[in-house]
Amino acid sequence: MEKHDIKTRADIELMVRSFYDKATKDDLIGYIFNDVMKVDWPKHLPVMYDFWDSLLLEGAYRGNAMQPHFAINKLVPLETPLFQRWLQIFESTVKELFAGETADLAITRARSISEIMNFKMNSINHPEQQKENIPLVNPGNQNG
Ligand code: HEM
Repeated sequence: MEKHDIKTRADIELMVRSFYDKATKDDLIGYIFNDVMKVDWPKHLPVMYDFWDSLLLEGAYRGNAMQPHFAINKLVPLETPLFQRWLQIFESTVKELFAGETADLAITRARSISEIMNFKMNSINHPEQQKENIPLVNPGNQNG
């Protein structure tokens, strides 16, 4: 079937679900969702639908996208290779399913937010970051 652009809430939901299908099975970042944060999916998925809907269509996300990552960052340092993998999975998900301006916009937005998030997580003096005792090794990596 010909790929179409991201146009509806159903498209957003498909994009987000397909992304997490892959992300949760990924050897580098999957365990962060499954084992470290034990994500409550029925709660988290609608938040992510709203987040992407508000960036791409007309959704009503009113949260703080950065905030939970500071907490995760204390348990598992969110270093650049993890953001690179996150983005790879996001981009391949979007490209597999959709084609068009809004699909391109999804990728552009993901890249810029990821870049800002990566910068904040790895800035030791960022005001939201606790300065002491940030572990330098990844304690939860069961694959290595
Ligand atoms: C290595 C990269 C990342 C990891 C491991 C990660 C992981 C997570 C986890 C575990 C949560 C918490 C889910 C819960 O509530 O239990 C979360 C929330 C969230 N993430 Fe990420 N994330 C990453 C990067 C990103 C990026 C690049 C974006 C945006 C483009 C993003 C957007 C969000 C948003 C919007 C939320 C929900 C915030 C809220 O509760 O309002 N994440 N993430």
